[in-house]
Amino acid sequence: MFFKNLTKKNKIRLIVAGVALVLIVLMIVALDLRLKTVQYEIESEKVENKVRVALVTDLHSCKYGKDQKKLVKALEKQNPDLVLLGGDIFDDELSPENTKKFISAIADKYPCYYVTGNHEFMCSDEIFLSYMNFLEEKGVTILKGSAETIEINGEKINICGIDDPTLRNVEGYNYFAGDKRTVDGKGDYDWYGQLDLIDEIAQNGNYTLLLSHRPERFEKYAEYDFDLVLCGHAHGGQFRIPLLMNGLYAPNQGFFPEYAGGRYDSGDMTMIVSRGLAIECTFLPRIFNRPELVIIDIE
Ligand SMILES: [Fe+2]
Repeated sequence: MFFKNLTKKNKIRLIVAGVALVLIVLMIVALDLRLKTVQYEIESEKVENKVRVALVTDLHSCKYGKDQKKLVKALEKQNPDLVLLGGDIFDDELSPENTKKFISAIADKYPCYYVTGNHEFMCSDEIFLSYMNFLEEKGVTILKGSAETIEINGEKINICGIDDPTLRNVEGYNYFAGDKRTVDGKGDYDWYGQLDLIDEIAQNGNYTLLLSHRPERFEKYAEYDFDLVLCGHAHGGQFRIPLLMNGLYAPNQGFFPEYAGGRYDSGDMTMIVSRGLAIECTFLPRIFNRPELVIIDIE
C-alpha cells in the first residue's frame, strides 16, 4: 500500500536505496576478516577418551591484535590438548615478529608440533634456519619425515609430519626421507620417502595423525594407513560463495579447487583442510572466507 502511493520517482529511489543497502550488507559480510573457530568431530574405535587438537595453518606472520592476543585467546578458549602448526606459519616477505609473538605465547602451554609450508622454503637458507631454530628454542617439535607417539588423556596417538614437497637441502636442517633421501634436494622425491618412512610408525595400532601442508595430495595419503590428515595451503580458495562455490582458486589445484577447505573422507581416512589465517599478506582479499582456527575432537 505504502509503495503503491509513492510517485514513480520515489519508487525508483526506494528500489535503488534497497539494492544499495543489500549490496553494502553483502560487502560487509563478504569482506569480514574476523577470526572464527571451526569445529570438527571425528569418531574412531581407536580412541575412547576425547582428544582435542588445534590446527593452526598459514598464519603467514599476519597480525591478530596486539601481541597476537585475538588468536591466542581464541586458542585458549578451546583448551586443546595439543597444537599442530601446519606450515606457512612464517612468510617469505613479512616480518616474522607476529608469528614469533604467537609461538612465544603458546609454546609453553601446549605440546606444539610443526611442519614446513612452501613459504618457509621460499626464504633464504639463513632465514629459514633462523625460523627453525626459533621454533626449537621454544620447544616446538619440528616433524620432517618423523613422528612421535604421545599419550593424551590415556590415549596413545601417533603424531606424524612431513615437509612441504618444495623442501630442499638446507645445511643444518636435517630432514628424514629414509633411503629415498636425495643429495641434490629434489624435494618431491624426498616427500614420498618421508611418507614411506612414517607409514611404518602408523602400523603400531595407535590412532595416527599426519600433519602435512598440502591438501591436493589427498589420494596419495589415502594409500597409507593414516586415520586423520591435517592440511592447509589452499587458503580456502580465496573467494567463496557459501553453498555454491567452495573456493575460486588455490595454489597447486587451480580454479575451483576440490580441496580448498573442509572435511574429506576416503575409507577410514579423514582429511581436514584449514582455510588458514592469512590476511594482510595476500594480494587479493578473502571473500566470504573468514580466517579460521580449526579445532578437531577425536573420540
Ligand atoms: Fe599459505
